[in-house]
Amino acid sequence: MTGPGSITSRFADLLGIRYPVVQEGLGPYKTVKLAAAVSNAGGLGTVSIPGLTDPDGPAVLRAYIEEACSLTDRPFAVNVPVGRDATGKVLPFSASYVGVVVDAVQDPEIARRLRMITTSAGAPGVVRDVIADSGLIHAHKVGGTRQAVRAAQDGVDVIVASGYEAGGHTHARPVHTMVLGPSVCAAVDVPVVLAGGIHNGAGMAAALALGADAVAMGTRFVASHDNTDWHPNYAQKIIDTAEGDDVVFSAIYGPSRALPTRALRELAEIEDRVDIDTLTAWKDDRLIRGQRDGEMEAGVLPAGNVSGAITDLIHVAEFIPALVEETIAVLDGVRSRVRTPSPTSP
Ligand SMILES: Cc1cc2nc3c(=O)[nH]c(=O)nc-3n(C[C@H](O)[C@H](O)[C@H](O)COP(=O)(O)O)c2cc1C
Repeated sequence: MTGPGSITSRFADLLGIRYPVVQEGLGPYKTVKLAAAVSNAGGLGTVSIPGLTDPDGPAVLRAYIEEACSLTDRPFAVNVPVGRDATGKVLPFSASYVGVVVDAVQDPEIARRLRMITTSAGAPGVVRDVIADSGLIHAHKVGGTRQAVRAAQDGVDVIVASGYEAGGHTHARPVHTMVLGPSVCAAVDVPVVLAGGIHNGAGMAAALALGADAVAMGTRFVASHDNTDWHPNYAQKIIDTAEGDDVVFSAIYGPSRALPTRALRELAEIEDRVDIDTLTAWKDDRLIRGQRDGEMEAGVLPAGNVSGAITDLIHVAEFIPALVEETIAVLDGVRSRVRTPSPTSP
């Protein structure tokens, strides 16, 4: 009898995980239980930061990290969006969240589990030195090939390439996963995790064929029985979304993909009249009201184009091994249709 198949992956080897499958950062509300479930299932879960404007954010993030350690013995990651101010200095919230993560891994019990920090949004160079000295694996998320090359030159260990169809903050210059994947994989030598629009074995097989070492998903994992930190209305809303119903809106710091709600119309009305700090606090509040409180019209609800293809709630422990099995079956199916010419054929 043969056992289940497996997929070799530089990324999985680097992290010490069984499956090259990542649940990505889904801020600004808590994803501790979801992250632990994904890591326990053999993938890599990601703890998200509590928001850009929460004055207690750093202490809350530390508590999230400790809670995740109490729920899993396996590797997990933390996501921190990073940016610079007009003078080139790292933004205070990025500096303090990165500081919390770097400080946490001084504790060997945490360092054994918290293996990776994924920076996103701005360029990683601004926090590279402090992460490089911490022993953490540094992944950086990009939406373009030039950003990927620059991040690799800055010394990051892993590139997460996310296509324009991804949920949440997407990219000013729209490059979709199918185009982005091969370009980034050809341009950098470090492992590439591909994200944006993936929800099943066909998508994961495609990502591997495009050159990726691993896949990451956001929206698919939101609609999960294990995402118990969030209000169940959010997952139901994704399930109810029809193909093409998602929208890209101007989200203060750049475009973001979400489900259409009254909040997006309200934002369009106030965005030219209100200063950026007020707008950022407004948006954090509306994101949290969607994720924590299940307010589906007052909330801002980031979600990917893939929402229209998601029709059910998953159990992560079953989903991840089944996803990998399905991926292997898809790849075998494609291979069985390939006819290589024999030396004797005319
Ligand atoms: C609800 C939601 C919140 C998100 N929050 C963050 C975040 O805080 N930081 C980040 O880097 N990306 C964030 N993203 C993007 C995801 O990390 C990931 O790149 C994206 O969901 C992948 O595309 P997919 O949704 O098609 O799977 C968010 C996405 C969603 C759906």
